[in-house]
Amino acid sequence: SATPMVDPFGRTVDYLRVSVTDRCDFRCVYCMAEDMTFLPKQDLLTLEELDRLCSAFIAKGVRKLRLTGGEPLVRRDIMTLFRSLSRHLDTGRLEELTLTTNGSQLARFAAELRGYGVERVNVSLDTLDPKAFKAITRWGDLGKVLQGIDAAQAAGLQVKINAVALKGMTEGEAADLIAWAHGRGMDLTFIEVMPLGDVTGHRVDQYLPLSVLRAQLMDRFSFEDIPYSTGGPARYVRVRETGGRLGFITPMTHNFCESCNRVRVTCTGTLYMCLGQEDAADLRAPLRASESNDALHAAIDRAISRKPKGHDFVIDRRTKQPAVGRHMSVTGG
Ligand code: GTP
Ligand code: 5AD
Ligand code: SF4
Repeated sequence: SATPMVDPFGRTVDYLRVSVTDRCDFRCVYCMAEDMTFLPKQDLLTLEELDRLCSAFIAKGVRKLRLTGGEPLVRRDIMTLFRSLSRHLDTGRLEELTLTTNGSQLARFAAELRGYGVERVNVSLDTLDPKAFKAITRWGDLGKVLQGIDAAQAAGLQVKINAVALKGMTEGEAADLIAWAHGRGMDLTFIEVMPLGDVTGHRVDQYLPLSVLRAQLMDRFSFEDIPYSTGGPARYVRVRETGGRLGFITPMTHNFCESCNRVRVTCTGTLYMCLGQEDAADLRAPLRASESNDALHAAIDRAISRKPKGHDFVIDRRTKQPAVGRHMSVTGG
């Protein structure tokens, strides 16, 4: 029906990330502050409204839909949303329905997710050391995450592990993570930390450029560039020693904005055209104003027509001020 969404730089937007809650059962040090104030529950879109919003984007050309958070699996009744969205897989309009999760609730939901047509999940896991895991997540239980990953694989879900590269930790862990993930047939991607939201500590103390990690890993492993892509920002290599795939997400050292294909919606119906910019559009008002989707479609078109060229993140000693004030848990990565 509608024409595809193309931004002023000629980039087609066919990937929507929806943060279904800003809450999380963890408090990762690079994601949240120790003391977080969450959105009042009455501000949240209902699951029906989230479905309508996602469906409007699918009608406008979205082919890949990822639910994020916060932690998407802590949102009450979230399986209802997966179930209803799965109809778009059945009609073939949607190519992929997936999620990014911290894994803590995966053991409970993996089989059901697979039943709703989810084929892959991305699980955030930065370390296999229980003590370091506790220190990073502040509250997390590594055992539960590992059980979640087991359950996901048992249910037939492909698992990709996302590890945020953290200075002073990942240098010593990366080889173990690679061996472990690849030994289990899982892809692994490292991510550079981005300056989003005040997180109590200083970003400089967290930031490990992946150029540094990569050079260090090349003493032990040999990498072969491969054209593999899932439509996300990772650039992949094949690790010769393990045969597995390793991805690098490098917003800081190698900006990938020129091929950006995505936008994000928060759990209150705010559309962010770029993870690293403040500009946003309210979709909740047009969604609630009418049962027809005309105003909603028009609001989406106006927003896409001002999608910015990219982010301008910097991490240095001079400022503790984040590039954007909102936390990753609001926009969902
Ligand atoms: P695949 O479908 O497996 O490719 O996943 P994905 O990389 O698209 O999604 P995932 O949730 O695994 O994203 C991993 C991380 O990549 C996010 O948490 C962000 O840190 C980063 N990322 C994803 N999209 C963008 C983007 O548009 N800009 C920036 N700067 N970072 C992004
Ligand atoms: N920079 C980079 N990645 C982050 N994540 C959370 N906060 C940040 C940040 N500031 C990651 C999580 C997860 C994904 C959703 O985003 O670890 O893998
Ligand atoms: Fe929760 Fe993910 Fe943020 Fe960690 S990174 S606090 S798991 S939303």
